[in-house]
Amino acid sequence: MLAYRHAFHAGNHADVLKHILLMLVLGHMNQKDKGYRFVDTHAGAGGYSLEGTYAKKKAEYLDGIARLWTRDDLPPAVADYVALVREFNGAKHLKQYPGSPTIAQALTRPQDNLRLFELHPTDHRILASYLGDDKRVEVKMADGFDGLKAQLPPPTRRGLVLMDPSYEGERDYAKVVATLREALARFAEGTYMVWYPQVTKLAAAQLPKRLQSLAPKGWLHARLTVGKTDAQGFGLAGSGVFIYNPPFTLHAQLNELLPWLHGALKPEDGSGGWLLDQRAV
Ligand SMILES: C[S@@+](CC[C@H](N)C(=O)[O-])C[C@H]1O[C@@H](n2cnc3c(N)ncnc32)[C@H](O)[C@@H]1O
Repeated sequence: MLAYRHAFHAGNHADVLKHILLMLVLGHMNQKDKGYRFVDTHAGAGGYSLEGTYAKKKAEYLDGIARLWTRDDLPPAVADYVALVREFNGAKHLKQYPGSPTIAQALTRPQDNLRLFELHPTDHRILASYLGDDKRVEVKMADGFDGLKAQLPPPTRRGLVLMDPSYEGERDYAKVVATLREALARFAEGTYMVWYPQVTKLAAAQLPKRLQSLAPKGWLHARLTVGKTDAQGFGLAGSGVFIYNPPFTLHAQLNELLPWLHGALKPEDGSGGWLLDQRAV
């Protein structure tokens, strides 16, 4: 059963981190003319109303994108991200938030192609309505863990995979590891981005180490802890992105960006922090 709906969380601090990183990696992919394939194994709806019942219920975006919206001192990577969200809104007011597929659609080029997996029928329908007419895009109502291997290696042997499951149950953690093991065996030189939640679960805490153990070459791990948790520590404390074969300039960029993002998104008591680690090749 698919209970998770990303509309509750759209534009929160975890989306901010994930989508800024996605834009930086896509920008790097675009430095070579040769086309590439972007695969989003858990694509979501592609766009979300921040005024709808779902987003309003928790209003998580208020401590995410909304904190950046009116600032005029944004570092370049954050300014590019806010500009893209502004373009998606088409207006001065923050009313909608783009998902990873629409961000990728905006940044990819005619020679690139996109393969998007979304299992939830409603989110799949919305996703298809956003991107279905783009000839470069295939929107699949299928399991992204199972579907990934048929997409690899891409014909041009250039590819970026975003794996962003909902981690509703413990199974997703094991599936992430198993799917990436197989994907890396098929296409070791691809770039893979895995998002994970920083929550009080052993499987979540162990995931980065398990991902490191699979790495054929280099990896980078970035984590931003800015969330509010309850007295027992439950809730989304933060989130991380683990990247295989990252752009070599990314570590230096994030060294400046993560402290800035922590400053901009931290809770009132100033708690939390960031982590940046890599194995360079
Ligand atoms: C965290 S959301 C994706 C958010 C999106 N990547 C973004 O950044 O805008 C995870 C999505 O995966 C979908 N989903 C869950 N299990 C799936 C599976 N096995 N294959 C494909 N989609 C799945 C959920 O319905 C949900 O929309």
